[in-house]
Amino acid sequence: MVTVNDNYLKLKAGYLFPEIARRVKAFAEMNPDAPIIKLGIGDVTEPLPAACRIAMIKAVEDMGDRATFKGYGPEQGYAWLRDKIASHDFQARGCDIDGAEIFVSDGAKCDTGNILDIFGKDNAIAVTDPVYPVYVDTNVMVGHTGEANDAGKYEGLIYLPMTAENNFTPDLPTGKVDLIYLCFPNNPTGATASKATLKKWVDYAKANDAIIFFDAAYEAFITDPEFPHSIYEIEGAKDCAIEFRSFSKNAGFTGTRCAFTVVPKSLKAKSSDGSDVELHQLWNRRQSTKFNGVSYIIQRGAEAVYSTEGQAQIKGLIGFYLENAAIVREKLMAMGLKVYGGVNAPYVWVQTPSGVTSWDFFDKLLKEANVVGTPGSGFGAAGEGYFRISAFNSRKNIEVAMQRIAEKLKM
Ligand code: MLT
Repeated sequence: MVTVNDNYLKLKAGYLFPEIARRVKAFAEMNPDAPIIKLGIGDVTEPLPAACRIAMIKAVEDMGDRATFKGYGPEQGYAWLRDKIASHDFQARGCDIDGAEIFVSDGAKCDTGNILDIFGKDNAIAVTDPVYPVYVDTNVMVGHTGEANDAGKYEGLIYLPMTAENNFTPDLPTGKVDLIYLCFPNNPTGATASKATLKKWVDYAKANDAIIFFDAAYEAFITDPEFPHSIYEIEGAKDCAIEFRSFSKNAGFTGTRCAFTVVPKSLKAKSSDGSDVELHQLWNRRQSTKFNGVSYIIQRGAEAVYSTEGQAQIKGLIGFYLENAAIVREKLMAMGLKVYGGVNAPYVWVQTPSGVTSWDFFDKLLKEANVVGTPGSGFGAAGEGYFRISAFNSRKNIEVAMQRIAEKLKM
């Protein structure tokens, strides 16, 4: 008899965003004329930058000419893109990262899940609470956890609460953990981490032989020069951190798919016989076995992000979404709600009115204002009583959504 991976049966009902989509679909079927505005999943709405489109069109033409046609590319990504990433995103910020340490991929979501392939089964794993659900669910899928309790917490994971009291930056674990997921600017709370905060984590990781999975998918939204964009801005991070980045949110590639992961060559972990193993080598082995690289056309589009025009155009996009976030913050505060995030981040984290749960607030906004957000409890037990609003939408939709919410909350 064929058996399944039982670990999947431990997963809570549905991945958060499909679950929201299911509820929205059911509502829309019952109310076909409802003018629903979606501020739930952080999916971009504005068109791809012209520099990227022009580069992709040219790349399509390259594919139509025998002299410039490309078949399989390097699984790790083309050197011309990896080198640009290294020099622009890292070396320009004083980080000693080389193009060869960068692995181009089709998404930070996939990479944060796939990275578990190269780690052992017995690591103590810490996640924040609330957390981007992918980190938790992928650990469940590979069997790193037991069952979930009533609060949705999985046995075997160490949850680090992020609350208003700790400014949504988790305290260090009290015991020893091996793998730690950090995401800054944070999804879902929109919090940012200072250099001092990240240094505390790097020091902890080094002292405990731990590795940090640093998700920096939203780094482009940092406008305050005080905040680091990469964990490698912290001395010593090359020996204890893997960083995940994406073109999804800065350049609008959510549907185009391009991202990258930095695995420094100096990063090591132990084999079961106690010898040192280079993680770069293992990830390279994993990628070249299970992945054939991102398409040439898309990589050319991503490369154009680093051109002068591309840089100006993505700055415009990021500025636009940050203005949306500022409008959301301001309007919600004017309604008397307590609001966090949305300054160096595209997510606004709002405390629900007293006594209203995250899902109740979701239902109320969907039914009465026809606005979709994300219930904070979907990101973890500590997210209960919060609601996430994404700034990724047109200006008009943001304004109409805020106006509708204001009207409904008044009643
Ligand atoms: C989110 O809404 O949290 C993000 O869009 C999820 C993602 O980037 O996969």
